[in-house]
Parts: sequence; structure tokens; C-alpha cells
Amino acid sequence: MAKVPNIKLNNGLEIPAFGLGTWKSKAGEVEQAVKDAIDIGYRHIDCAHVYGNEKEVGTALKEKICRRHLVEKALRLTLQDLGLEYLDLYLIHWPHAYKKRQFAIRREGENFPFDANGKIQFSDVDYVDTWKALEKCVNKGLTKSIGVSNFNKRQLERVLEISTIKPVVNQVECHPYLNQRKLIEFCRSKGIVITGYSPLGSPDRPWAKPEEPQLLEDPKLKELAVKYKKTPAQIVLRYQVDRGVVAIPKSVTKSRIQQNFDIFDFSLTADDVAYLDTFDVNGRFCPMTR
Ligand code: A2P
Repeated sequence: MAKVPNIKLNNGLEIPAFGLGTWKSKAGEVEQAVKDAIDIGYRHIDCAHVYGNEKEVGTALKEKICRRHLVEKALRLTLQDLGLEYLDLYLIHWPHAYKKRQFAIRREGENFPFDANGKIQFSDVDYVDTWKALEKCVNKGLTKSIGVSNFNKRQLERVLEISTIKPVVNQVECHPYLNQRKLIEFCRSKGIVITGYSPLGSPDRPWAKPEEPQLLEDPKLKELAVKYKKTPAQIVLRYQVDRGVVAIPKSVTKSRIQQNFDIFDFSLTADDVAYLDTFDVNGRFCPMTR
């Protein structure tokens, strides 16, 4: 993005040497014009009460500038809760934004904002703007690395196009039923590491239905487990290690936490990794459809 030079004012502050005029811009068009201008790099907007359109200018400013501050605020809240001074890695959780929680109903254990009908309340903030705010957090030393989660190829491309700091990680659902082969290839070509969440198929997902397939109960997987003298969980976790995907299995059971860790004393043959690849049924356990 081209950078507009600043001119020093006699009070020590600066004015961008170029700005967007809003006189004659109609109420119905000025909001988008200001948003477009901010995206393009304008940081100086000239406006006046008598132009009769300042409310719309304000709406655009709020969306493009004020909401970016929420990113740093959220990161600082996380730091405070974790008792840390900085993070190693901070991700955009989904490629869309949410309404602020205080305007929404909260569900037990889930901090996404829901409306009274149980529908998630999205906001129209663009993740590209969130990304720019995250870059500022890196520059302030609040996090060493930044990345994304649940982003597809097109969404990553939009971020890569505008970023000065590239995402280091894309965290997505990943297991043999949804092996993400194409997305992994794309990310690799861009130097982005894939972290796989729900590597065990998230049997404890709150919306699981009894008739849905259970990855860890898959007979073909169980056969492999017998062959390697390991558990089905260990096989699907080692599968990710062997294909260079970072796995993050959830467990609150000490014996399982230990078991899931005990996968560095064996590896799968290339044939068995390829065999596990054939389990793919585009089977997503965590769709953002609610
Ligand atoms: P728990 O936390 O009660 O031990 P995912 O990581 O794919 O979201 O899966 C998490 C679920 O898998 C949790 O229900 C967790 O149970 C269970 N789990 C974790 N490790 C194992 C394991 N080694 N064998 C069977 N189930 C496991």
C-alpha cells in the first residue's frame, strides 16, 4: 500500500498530505466511499456537519477504525487471563467477525454470541481489517507470530495480498475423514504450517448425533491399530505427524493425555499414510452452520 507523506503542524501533530473530500457525497454513497478510501490507504477524511452526511462517515470510521481496536483489546484480555506478557501465536478464529458479546445471549461453555433463536450473530467486519490490526499487535510485541484458523484458499489469498506480516499457521479441522490434502498443499506452497484440530474426530462435540460415524470406532482404523500395536487415537495422531501436520488432541483424562503423547516411538509406512488418506469423505464434524 502506498504511504501518504505527513506534513508537520505547528502544534507538533501531523496531517496526511492528501485526503478524501466528502462535500457533495450523498448519504447513501459516502459510507462505502470512506470505507473504500480507508482500504486504499487514505488516513485523512475531510468532513463537515453542513454536508449532511457525517453520520454515514462516522459509520464507516467506526467499522474500519474503531473496531480494529477491539483486536488489541481482545488480545490483552487473553494475556490478562493467561497471566502472560506476550503470546507466541495468536490466530483469527474464523474468517468472519462476531457481534460484541454484551449485545448477545451467551450459551454455557460457548462464548460465541447467539441471538434469542440460537443463531450466531455475525458482524460484517472484514477479516482483512482484523489482520491489519493483528499486525499492529506483533509490532507492539503482544504476540510473536500471527495466523488464521478455518480459512480456505481464497480467504488466505486475500490476507496474503494485503499483509506485511504473513500468517504462519492456518488451523483447520483435520483427520482421516477430512484430510485437507489440497489446502495443505496450498499452505505449504506459501510457507504456512497447518495445525489440525479435532484430530480424533471430536467425539465430545456438543452437536454430535448418535447416528454420525465415530472416527475412533472405524473398523479399518482399528485394524491398523492392531497392526502397529497402538490405539486408534495414536494411529490418527501419528498420521498427522507423518504428514507434517501439527495435531492438538483434546483430553482431560491423564491416561489419554499420556497415551496421545506416546506416538514418537513409531511411524506409519508411506503406504499406510496413503491408505489413511483414502478414508477421506469430506467429513466435517465442526461446520460453522449454526
Ligand atoms: P476426554 O477429554 O474425556 O479424555 P478431539 O481432540 O478430536 O476434539 O477429541 C477430543 C475427544 O476425544 C474428547 O472427548 C476426549 O475425551 C477424547 N479422547 C482424547 N484422547 C483419546 C484417546 N486416546 N482415546 C479415546 N478418546 C480420546
